[in-house]
Amino acid sequence: MDCPVLVCDENSTEAGTISKFLNSFIIKNTPKKNSYLHLNENGLSFNSHTSEGKRELRVDFLKGPMGWRLKRPEHEKQLKKAIGKTSDSLTIFDGTAGMLGDSMIFLSLGHKVIACEQSKIIYLLIKDACKRAENELPFLKNLKLVHGNSAEIYKSHGTPDLVYLDPLYPENSKSSKRSGDVALLRTAIELESITDIGDEIFHEFRASEHKKIILKRPIKAPLICNKINYQIKGKSTRFDIYI
Ligand SMILES: C[S@@+](CC[C@H](N)C(=O)[O-])C[C@H]1O[C@@H](n2cnc3c(N)ncnc32)[C@H](O)[C@@H]1O
Repeated sequence: MDCPVLVCDENSTEAGTISKFLNSFIIKNTPKKNSYLHLNENGLSFNSHTSEGKRELRVDFLKGPMGWRLKRPEHEKQLKKAIGKTSDSLTIFDGTAGMLGDSMIFLSLGHKVIACEQSKIIYLLIKDACKRAENELPFLKNLKLVHGNSAEIYKSHGTPDLVYLDPLYPENSKSSKRSGDVALLRTAIELESITDIGDEIFHEFRASEHKKIILKRPIKAPLICNKINYQIKGKSTRFDIYI
C-alpha cells in the first residue's frame, strides 16, 4: 500500500493507533500535494490534491445528505421493498460497507448489521464517524463494523437473514463522475492498490450459503446472473434480489 501520512497536531493515542493500523507515520503540517489523512477536533478526514484543487472526504451521519436521510428512513421505499415486509429485526450482512449509507438506513429501520469494508482508509473514516455519532444515534449499538475482505469474513458469521452488496459501478458511469465523495473513495482504494472492487464479489456470495442477496445495480446495467428472483426499480438504481 502506498500509505497516506496522518496529519495531527498532537501525538494522541488515537493518532498512534491510526498510524499503526495504516503502517504510516504522523506529521504536523498538511502536505501540499498527494493524499493524506487528517485528524483534528472535527474527526478524521481523507484529503487529496487533484487537478481541481484539494478535496476532502469526511463521513458524517448527523449532518448533510446522510443526516437528512436518517431523519426520514420511512422514505427509503425501494430499500425497504428490497428488504421485504417484516416486523422482525433482521441480521443484515453488508459486504460492501463503503461510506455506510445503506447500512445506516438498515440500522435506523431496526435491523442488526455486520458491515465489512476492505479499504483501511474508508474503514477508519466510517469508524470515526460512528464514534462521533454514537451518543445521538443509539441504533449504532446494533452495528458490528469489520475491516477486511467480506467474502472471507462472511465465512465466520453463520447465515445472516440478508446479504447486501453494492459494488462500485464502472468508472465511466455518470453517477461515479458526478459524486465527489465516490471519486475520493476510488482514490483511497487505488492508493491501497485494491483491484477487486467490481461484480466478482456477487459471485463469491452467490456460491456461499445464503438466504437472500440484495445486489444494488445501475438501472440500465445488464444482469450479472440469470437466476434472479425479482427486481425493485428506482430512477437510477435497482435492487436485484436472489433468494
Ligand atoms: C459503492 S461502495 C458502497 C457504498 C455503500 N453502500 C454506501 O451506502 O455508502 C462499495 C464499497 O465496497 C467495498 N468493497 C468492495 N468489495 C469488497 C470486499 N470484497 N470486501 C469488503 N469491502 C468491499 C469497496 O471498498 C467500497 O468501499
